[in-house]
Amino acid sequence: MITDLNKAVSLLKQSSYTSAFTGAGISVESGVPPFRGENGLWNKYDPMVLDIDYFHSYPLESWKVIREIFYEFFEGAKPNKAHEVLAQMEKEKLLFAVITQNIDNLHQEAGSKVVYEYHGNAQKLVCTKCGKYYKPSEVDLNNLPPRCSRDNVILKPDFVFFGEPIPEKAREGSMVEAVNAEVFLVIGSTGEVMPACFVPQVAKKNGAVIIEINPEESQFTHSITDIYLKGKAAGIMEEIAKKLWE
Ligand code: APR
Repeated sequence: MITDLNKAVSLLKQSSYTSAFTGAGISVESGVPPFRGENGLWNKYDPMVLDIDYFHSYPLESWKVIREIFYEFFEGAKPNKAHEVLAQMEKEKLLFAVITQNIDNLHQEAGSKVVYEYHGNAQKLVCTKCGKYYKPSEVDLNNLPPRCSRDNVILKPDFVFFGEPIPEKAREGSMVEAVNAEVFLVIGSTGEVMPACFVPQVAKKNGAVIIEINPEESQFTHSITDIYLKGKAAGIMEEIAKKLWE
């Protein structure tokens, strides 16, 4: 396994088709806690609250935790250098798409245009009856659970709960990227969450060179990773940007 930033940069420069797969780790330096590992949210909360059956059975209890995690913690989070470099790479035609497991909207806020949201997006609430979408700012989250103004049905955050299917557009778009990529950046993911973790594996199977950025080893590191850049996303992406555009 090559651990060389320069090798990674020359591959990114030469590649005619690069895409990126990101996990919660890319947003840690934006102040968004990860789910696993040190300070992981699952150390503090029971993942059950994001199970779709639990949500339908105990909407108030589920919404209390959802508000704390996704609307209080996430409040004010801004893109960091890693999100910004990926957006710049897309602008410079060095990156085709971002496939993210994150629901924090930070790739879009950094300027990325092609973003496949494998687990949806917390910046939208949806009425499961009439399909009307709401911005979080359009509902009163002090009065839980929020309800649709049309039919009074409880609103659901538009992210994928455990037990829900992956949105079709994200599932299909991610596969196209994985099959076509020559170089596949994998940033800030444990590689433990299915079926998201299959996307980098499909890229590898289709001949992509896997460049992984993570301060800790993941399920990918000793299985599909070709170049493991050990470190935090913002710092490493800043070094990559300097060499890409020096
Ligand atoms: N830069 C890069 N990676 C980091 C950083 C950082 N500054 N800090 C932590 N990481 C890495 C950790 O080493 C770990 O591999 O980010 C990962 C965080 O683990 P998870 O929170 O499990 O993230 P991920 O693998 O993306 O799984 C997130 O789990 O509960 C589901 O659907 C939920 O999308 C979510 C998924």
